[in-house]
Amino acid sequence: MLLAAVFAAGAQPRREITLKKGWLFSREDNPAAAQSGFNDGNWQSVTVPHDWAIYGPFDKSNDIHRMAIVQDGQTTAIEHYGRTGGLPFTGAGWYRNRFTIPGFTGGKRVHLLFDGAMSNARVYVNGREVGYWPNGYNSFYFDITDFVHEEGRENLLAVRLENFEEQSRWYPGAGLYRNVHLIVTEKTYIPIWGSYVTTPVVTPGFARVNVRTRVESAGGGTLKLVTQIRDETQQTVATAESTLSESDMGQFSQELVVENPRLWDIKQPNLYTAVSRLYEDGRLVDEYCTPFGIRTLEIRPDEGFFLNGREVKFKGVCLHHDLGPLGAAVNEAAIRRQIRTMQDMGANAIRTSHNMPAPEFVRIADEMGMMLMVESFDEWAIPKVKNGYNRYFKSWAERDLVNLLHHYRNNPSVVMWCIGNEVEEQSHKHGSRVARFLQDICHREDPTRPVTNGMDRPDQVLSNHMAAMMEVPGFNYRPFRYREAYDRLPQQIILGSETASTLSSRGVYKFPVVRRSMAQYDDHQASSYDVEHCSWSNLPEDDFIQHDELPYTIGEFIWTGIDYLGEPTPYYSAWPSHSSLFGAVDLAGIPKDRFYLYRSHWNSDAETLHILPHWNWKGREGEVTPIFVYTSYPSAELFINGKSQGLRTKDLSVPLEGSDSAEARKRLERQKRYRLMWMDTRYEPGTVRVVAYDNDGKAVAEKEIHTAGKPHRIVLEADRREIDGDGEDIAFVNVKLVDKAGNFCPTDDREISFTVKGAGRFKAVANGNPASLESFQLPRMKLFSGQLTALVQAGEESGTLVLEAKAEGVRSGRVEIRVK
Ligand code: GAL
Repeated sequence: MLLAAVFAAGAQPRREITLKKGWLFSREDNPAAAQSGFNDGNWQSVTVPHDWAIYGPFDKSNDIHRMAIVQDGQTTAIEHYGRTGGLPFTGAGWYRNRFTIPGFTGGKRVHLLFDGAMSNARVYVNGREVGYWPNGYNSFYFDITDFVHEEGRENLLAVRLENFEEQSRWYPGAGLYRNVHLIVTEKTYIPIWGSYVTTPVVTPGFARVNVRTRVESAGGGTLKLVTQIRDETQQTVATAESTLSESDMGQFSQELVVENPRLWDIKQPNLYTAVSRLYEDGRLVDEYCTPFGIRTLEIRPDEGFFLNGREVKFKGVCLHHDLGPLGAAVNEAAIRRQIRTMQDMGANAIRTSHNMPAPEFVRIADEMGMMLMVESFDEWAIPKVKNGYNRYFKSWAERDLVNLLHHYRNNPSVVMWCIGNEVEEQSHKHGSRVARFLQDICHREDPTRPVTNGMDRPDQVLSNHMAAMMEVPGFNYRPFRYREAYDRLPQQIILGSETASTLSSRGVYKFPVVRRSMAQYDDHQASSYDVEHCSWSNLPEDDFIQHDELPYTIGEFIWTGIDYLGEPTPYYSAWPSHSSLFGAVDLAGIPKDRFYLYRSHWNSDAETLHILPHWNWKGREGEVTPIFVYTSYPSAELFINGKSQGLRTKDLSVPLEGSDSAEARKRLERQKRYRLMWMDTRYEPGTVRVVAYDNDGKAVAEKEIHTAGKPHRIVLEADRREIDGDGEDIAFVNVKLVDKAGNFCPTDDREISFTVKGAGRFKAVANGNPASLESFQLPRMKLFSGQLTALVQAGEESGTLVLEAKAEGVRSGRVEIRVK
């Protein structure tokens, strides 16, 4: 790839290019591929970010785990299929890229920065190995100055990646699935992640901003740093200038004051940028930008978590890093859609379970006002899976953690660090020492944020002091033990670091409607009545009630906001089943009913009035078919074909104490406090209508669903009608069938096929069915419960993109998207 265009641009001393194009890829593991002269003529041409495994095919034999998941209560080894998604991610893969660096001379420095590479990256430049980084999620960089040729000569970058069987508990992705950057600076420069911005004093009138900036210096010249703080309109609101003295030990520390600061907050993402210019003997040698936000964080014992002085409970979701049908390959449009959907549900925080997020994810969270709890590890030194991070922990944990902390400690969205998830060290006598080691590193590198740890073994962590040692004790599941933990711990605060693990499949309903644990069905689905969970977990209300009643709980992170590839619990050995059933939203990004349950409780800015199940039950005429309503209103009356089924009101008197007995669970006692349920309604085709009442008994909203007739036409609805012509932007198109009158047909599963014309291409398709083995990339797929999502991607020129959808027996659909 030629960098001439970028380098000709002018005098700025730092140049960064993201290597997206010009990559060649092969699964053949030939060590000679590191050499410049190697013949890669038959390699596949790819763009990065690239996930080699998402192309499938799905297969039961991909990465079978033969073991007992002790955590899940298994006592003997069984075969697990689909635990890592049933996709071919194991083995080696090579990438090669040829580039020149016009203008690069001996007086400069070149770094190569990987945002993340899955995994065990070995990086070669011009035939020589420059470095190795095992962790597949972390960002890492190498100084390649001594490896690259001066201007005019071509360089060869080769990267070998290798994934092992049993290295993960979910789908990790494969390859250069995050971006790769080449950074050229002068010999005296500000290193990667070399700045650290904190806001030690924040008042309505002013904020004190401390900017610490490290410098790598080539020689003995006088170094001066001029830092400007700019607001979002690029106005400079504060400036500082300082000269480095010997006692500064290579690090500037500047204090600036921003008057009337606009605070970063949830959905109010006010950002600033610190622009630091470094001068050596009066000559500008570097310019470094650090986006940051001004906000305060505080944890007050017995009172909670405070953001900008206001108590905020975490209405959080755990998210794995995959983007459904795109696999792990980073895409900004997909990340924005995820965060937008979670915000619509009312979520104010995301836990990046159980690993380091992509930089795009953190930046977009900053920009959209979503809080993040950033996690580092799923495993410390004691294995959960044979080839997991346990193999690297002793020699790499500190390096990995430091990179993570340096990378994201300026991002205002990041409000907490999480050092682990259900690690085996919980059950070890000295487990708390490892926790202390990691927490100390967090505090050393970033004293401004609290540190937690997701613990699922209350007995052990209360007795080996791991829970007492954590700044914020985070408990995974077992909310019925929060009170005891609170009693025995000194912090006077409890975080539900992972909760719920409720199971459901979008649009699939099971009868009779009863609360069940680890229920399995022949179709490999779970009931969307939201009454099923795992043996270690519970229903959403079992968490709601704790957080509503116990003032010292600081909120929860549900498992999970969105379905992910892998972990099809409880279908451990049942194939096909390749993705989770935990999400409030399915793998195609389509909300399940449960989304509306959370929305009704969490999103106080919006009206929620949602009816379930659908009302197409041919064959169930006269049978008991309960109806649930998830609503932000306190009560509602239900009508079937005009006949009242009675009024229901959320029963706020359901207490925390005593509402969790086997009997109470069976009666769905806690559910009565948060959902409206008509358990005895009988199916007859027609109309279900609900009228919602406010606290004064006034009818304030209503909603209807109808039994749909014969499918008549396909309806396409894009999440955005205008996308950027950058070759990467994606529109997500909801595809469904309706009858002649426009009623949604909720049970149809016919195959839809797609064609794309004009200014873009067909990218992928997903239907959210964990048991479907269809390819995500072929332009056809069966509907699941009447819906799917088609992804179309912009080309690099402006114009109109037309997506057409066809299916047998119904009228085609079409949508136009402008590419600009
Ligand atoms: C937790 C674990 C998650 C996921 C979840 C499923 O124990 O932290 O990664 O496995 O269970 O319920």
